[in-house]
Amino acid sequence: MSTYTIDTATSRATPTPAPMKRLTVPAIRNRKGKEPIVMLTAYTMRMAELLDPHCDVLLVGDSLGQVIYGLPSTLPVTLEMMIAHGAAVVRGSHHAVVIVDMPFGSYEASPERAFESAARVLAETGAAGVKLEGGATMAPVIEFLARRGIPVMAHIGLTPQAVNALGGYAARGRSNAEHARIIDDARAVTEAGAFAIVAEGVIETLANEITAAVSVPVIGIGASAQCDGQVLVTEDMLGLFERTPRFVRKYDDLASRISAAVATYAAEVRSRDFPGAEQVYAARD
Ligand code: KIV
Repeated sequence: MSTYTIDTATSRATPTPAPMKRLTVPAIRNRKGKEPIVMLTAYTMRMAELLDPHCDVLLVGDSLGQVIYGLPSTLPVTLEMMIAHGAAVVRGSHHAVVIVDMPFGSYEASPERAFESAARVLAETGAAGVKLEGGATMAPVIEFLARRGIPVMAHIGLTPQAVNALGGYAARGRSNAEHARIIDDARAVTEAGAFAIVAEGVIETLANEITAAVSVPVIGIGASAQCDGQVLVTEDMLGLFERTPRFVRKYDDLASRISAAVATYAAEVRSRDFPGAEQVYAARD
């Protein structure tokens, strides 16, 4: 764990020891066609600390609505929730680029509204950029933000904030019309100035076409191994949920391990085996 003390001898808050240099948005942008970008979601300080050495990008996803708050979808997530969790993830990381999701309703109405929301996210969290859902329709918003110094990661294909319009979370791009529209989306957000694109839940051949069609990195989730990077919801890949989407590979079974650890604790409390001699304070050491 990295512990920093604040150097109060200067007017600046200088952490000691100096943290390793954080990756930048241009560095991620330049990874197109090179070493795959490793991205995971993080919502809390401690999880950010654990993921940070291994990841290029930490995404404070609005999936926190379901994962942390038990909400039925991402739609009720607020800007305040994203800012609180974004700031925690920035505090827990010093290597990865931190990107914060713009929640539903905080950016769609106008480029100006999007700028106000995104500026708050960057100013109040210290994150490097924002992610927003939508393709060609959102291109004017992306352009407005990008031209004003706000790095934007676009999110196309299966866009969970549009669940009511899409009618569910099924894979996208199976019909010719939808396939063509999603390629157009990828081109439009690239031209608008997005520095990277998340392509979610698109059929593999379409993910490969998008990756070949645009000059910015395409980060897949339920897409293709040929994308320029991959992202998963951390709690999914760690096995904290029984049910996960088909595209998740479980790298652990934390749900079972937590359950076993807590069962042991409960048994030891009930048998008065815990706390033991090492966990209690004697009158004198
Ligand atoms: O909200 C989120 O976690 C996301 C990723 C799944 C890409 O948008």
